[in-house]
Amino acid sequence: MDQFDVVIIGGGPGGYVAAIRAAQLGFKTACIDDWKNAAGKPAPGGTCTNVGCIPSKALLQSSEHFDHAQHHFAEHGITASGLTMDVAKMLARKDAVVKQNNDGILYLFKKNKVTFFHGRGSFSTNGGAAKDGVYQIDVTEPAKTSIQGKHIIIATGSNARALPGAAFDEHLILSNDGALRIGDVPKKLGVIGAGVIGLEMGSVWRRLGSDVTVLEGLPAFLGAVDEQVAKEAMKLFTKQGLKISLGVKVRTIKTGKNNVSVEYTTADGKTENVTFDRLIVSIGRVPNTNGLNADAAGVKLDERGFISVDGDCKTTAANVWAVGDVVRGPMLAHKAEEEGVAVAERLAGQHPHIDFNCIPWVIYTSPEIAWVGQTEQQLKAAGVTYKGGSFPYMANGRARALGNTDGFVKILADAKTDKVLGMHVIGAMASELIAEGVMAMEFGASSEDIARICHAHPTLSEATKEAALAVDKRTLNM
Ligand code: FAD
Ligand code: NAI
Repeated sequence: MDQFDVVIIGGGPGGYVAAIRAAQLGFKTACIDDWKNAAGKPAPGGTCTNVGCIPSKALLQSSEHFDHAQHHFAEHGITASGLTMDVAKMLARKDAVVKQNNDGILYLFKKNKVTFFHGRGSFSTNGGAAKDGVYQIDVTEPAKTSIQGKHIIIATGSNARALPGAAFDEHLILSNDGALRIGDVPKKLGVIGAGVIGLEMGSVWRRLGSDVTVLEGLPAFLGAVDEQVAKEAMKLFTKQGLKISLGVKVRTIKTGKNNVSVEYTTADGKTENVTFDRLIVSIGRVPNTNGLNADAAGVKLDERGFISVDGDCKTTAANVWAVGDVVRGPMLAHKAEEEGVAVAERLAGQHPHIDFNCIPWVIYTSPEIAWVGQTEQQLKAAGVTYKGGSFPYMANGRARALGNTDGFVKILADAKTDKVLGMHVIGAMASELIAEGVMAMEFGASSEDIARICHAHPTLSEATKEAALAVDKRTLNM
């Protein structure tokens, strides 16, 4: 039986990056992943690459081009008539982008000498727990083998959560998987859950012509986002045509031959029954520990079904670690990657540290929303005295040249020390701007530090500098 120093179960961003880092550090490393593409071939990269980050961003890009051509080209003097959208071609491009990423990971495994197994990994039924400090991992479907590992990293990710009584059929009731491969533009699209997936996928299909209704259970829109940003987002998304209802209670979901009806109670107690051509259910995700036989190794789950880990990603079993969506913390690809790298480095005797307060969030709507650190409401609740500065895109030269003047950058800093406590952006390329806030917070920078740094002109990043200047009430361009 082949023996490895490190065996990783799951080849998503948590697992495949952990494998590469472990191999770089000189460990004999194996990574087991069961994802296969439509042709039955290995498709490592997990949810992120196959039905998450990458394909959703590909569709967001295609649909944004279409929206621009329809609504914004004319401002530039470009006439585009008879515009059509070939959905099949858009989906084929998305699939090609996904495949490039799958193949890229297989190439990286080869380059770094990671042994890849295509199949499902589980702790051996034949005893699971370590014998002489070594675990046996069985690999099945399509591979059929057993391997041994001194250290095991579980990176098995998460699955979409279904509403009770409304299982995903991926035809009418769609998880993220089905939402990314709708073959024609639904006339009426329902979305349950105004979270990240609901807003991103709702935006894609709205731009392509769907009449999109988003039903959210909570009374507040984007509750985890800074309130000022959430308010601006609600205003802009509503103006774009997304119909967002807050505080609803979904009662029943019934599928017909070609449609799906949702009965729900509105925030003011009225009962509505709406029929959609398709329904996306995006109400969060659940950790995936199916078939892992984690019990046999002494790996315990917490009360919510996540693998129980300490701050270093150690599970309750010796030399078994877990990272990414299957453990506590934000379900984000970059969080999974950081944890994977950190575990590999800990195995090599290094002392990496992840500051969860410095993990950025991005919602890839138009405009994008990005943030890091604390929101104003969190600072208020914690009784922290802070000062804030914001700067609108409207006053930024590059934003005007781009024609993207919606939104603002906001920086929150400690009232006494001026240390940056949070950065919040709604606007074009917020996903790129937020890196500066992350860096500032990781380095313990002050808002004055950002304000004193030379930012290239004309760039959107100047809005960050101006927001930092605004903390001290001395903006230059407003
Ligand atoms: P996963 O990516 O889920 O990978 C787990 C892998 O393990 C899968 O391939 C699975 O098949 C495999 N596996 C499971 N069990 C076994 C087993 N027993 N044996 C072998 N293999 C197994 N995050 C972002 O940061 N940015 C985004 O823009 C973003 N967009 C998203 C869009 C959508 C629609 C969705 C659904 C998610 C998005 N996410 C995004 C979240 C991101 O995809 C996850 O946080 C990330 O994929 C988690 O990585 P992971 O490695 O923990 O797990
Ligand atoms: P989410 O947690 O972002 O949003 C779920 C929403 O559904 C919440 O607003 C919640 O209040 C609502 N909800 C829950 N139950 C409901 C019910 N019964 N009826 C009506 N509303 C209900 O989850 P989502 O959108 O499914 O995404 C899952 C995760 O995937 C995200 O939390 C995020 O971690 C990750 N993701 C990240 C992306 C990014 O980084 N850009 C993009 C997409 C997903």
